[in-house]
Amino acid sequence: MKPPRDKRRDRRPQKAAQARHARPEAAAPRPKPSQPEAEPQARRVLARRPGALPAERLPLILEVEPNADYALLDSGNGRKLEQYGPYRIERPEGQAIWQPALGEAEWARADAIFTGDTDEEGMGRWRFPREPLGETWPMKHDGIDYLGRFTSFRHVGVFPEQGSHWSHMEGLIRGARRPVKVLNLFGYTGVASLVAARAGAEVTHVDASRKAIGWARENQELARLQDKPIRWICEDAMKFVEREERRGNRYDIILFDPPAYGRGPKGEVWQLFDDLPAMADICRSILTPKPLAVVLTAYSIRASFFAIHALMRDTFAGMGGRVESGELIIREKSAGRALSTSLFSRWVAA
Ligand SMILES: C[S@@+](CC[C@H](N)C(=O)[O-])C[C@H]1O[C@@H](n2cnc3c(N)ncnc32)[C@H](O)[C@@H]1O
Repeated sequence: MKPPRDKRRDRRPQKAAQARHARPEAAAPRPKPSQPEAEPQARRVLARRPGALPAERLPLILEVEPNADYALLDSGNGRKLEQYGPYRIERPEGQAIWQPALGEAEWARADAIFTGDTDEEGMGRWRFPREPLGETWPMKHDGIDYLGRFTSFRHVGVFPEQGSHWSHMEGLIRGARRPVKVLNLFGYTGVASLVAARAGAEVTHVDASRKAIGWARENQELARLQDKPIRWICEDAMKFVEREERRGNRYDIILFDPPAYGRGPKGEVWQLFDDLPAMADICRSILTPKPLAVVLTAYSIRASFFAIHALMRDTFAGMGGRVESGELIIREKSAGRALSTSLFSRWVAA
């Protein structure tokens, strides 16, 4: 008998809940009024998975320290000052409720400041106090070349805190000593996909934004990793995993870093609180018989990492391994304060 089907539709509250880890939507904005509303999609009916819960490790705080490619130089007064390769960049940071440790002269040396004071697309929301800058600039992550980018959503083409997950994933791929398939959902500009490909994995990268996929492809060229097997797919992440499940395609590592709210290319609605349980469940069922890890990051939501920890432990019941959960933080260079960026929970096989 077919299970009853629920609908995946827009149940967004009128006023967005105030989030603890604010990362405004990156690259798949709400559709313009002319864009058609997608047909509501069927939602998976979930049952609790049987079997022993995986071991647990929490809280686990994964930290990015200042390095040659990226540093959080200082923070305070609702702002943060960061070094992205050659540029010093100042942006709003709601959590920085303390006072800056560096003096005004240091902050005045910023090359770019996000003002956000117009509705313009592109770079119009940035101010360049020293000299006009181009939209992109060369960046590196652990030897991988890619482009930093001034976007209208205040983002700069990379989320440095994700570096902790990327090095962990790289270790798993190299340590496996066998072909490894990685699925990077909500993959944005693709740095994680490039790290995985360089480590020898076969990568499938999915994002709803055609623009972001274009940027990710550009990054692949810049990183000189064109000969590595990466499939770039512009699609709604939920639709994609549902199809992979039906087709029997399987992965050893899955990364998913969904926004609180997003849209697929055909207007499909992604609502984290409604859709995350089903996506986690499908991710479990599209794992190979010898999977390595499933890594979830969440931000801009009003929740504790205990919530996603419980979801991931329940989801991976009966699979052994361990669920590790906590926060991704960036350690500031000036006074050593920790800036929390997101929650995470990951299931690891060993
Ligand atoms: C914050 S970014 C992920 C960042 C990425 N983990 C990284 O570190 O570079 C969120 C991404 O989700 C994408 N997105 C939003 N809704 C989506 C959907 N329904 N299906 C697929 N991708 C979606 C956006 O286009 C955006 O690139």
